[in-house]
Amino acid sequence: MSFALKLLALHPSVQDILFSEIQQFCPGGAPEYTDLNKLTYALCIMYETMRLFPVIGSLNLSVSSPHDEILLRKYPIPQDTAIAIDLYCLHRNENYWGPTANEFNPSRWDARTPTPGWYSTDGKTQMPVRGAWWGFSEGPRACPGRRPHRTLLVFSYTFPLSCICD
Ligand code: HEM
Repeated sequence: MSFALKLLALHPSVQDILFSEIQQFCPGGAPEYTDLNKLTYALCIMYETMRLFPVIGSLNLSVSSPHDEILLRKYPIPQDTAIAIDLYCLHRNENYWGPTANEFNPSRWDARTPTPGWYSTDGKTQMPVRGAWWGFSEGPRACPGRRPHRTLLVFSYTFPLSCICD
């Protein structure tokens, strides 16, 4: 949340787009719980913030089976090897995110302006390839707290902005 607020403070143009979205979709001025699913750009800000500054910097795993394993059918991993997936580097990898990988640009997530070759998982946001963003991990062991957390985070910066700009 602190990174989201700092990035918003540093990027007034992003604040302006977010404020327009709040004005468009929040009839009461400040966002209500039921308005949050309409705030697509606010959601993009959350993904973009967690891309540049992942809350969990790396996912650590170890091979606990009694023998060596083959990862993804091609990488031999000896038994008891520790593996760390560096989310910070993954999320800034130019092979996935392009030459602007280090820039704060929430619009890159917005599925309303589709990027050729990118895919959408939920009809609102898009990403370059499965596995390029792992803020909440993926698959059956993905974070079960991601939905409530998403709601909380989006609310935490849309609400103050709606009050300040009112
Ligand atoms: C900033 C907010 C959060 C982030 C970034 C986050 C991220 C993650 C990540 C990356 C994993 C996968 C860890 C791994 O595979 O080693 C995970 C797992 C998990 N998270 Fe979260 N999480 C957040 C909030 C929450 C909340 C609010 C809850 C509970 C309400 C929660 C419950 C869990 C649980 C139970 C797992 C283990 C799932 C499993 O192993 O099957 N998380 N989280």
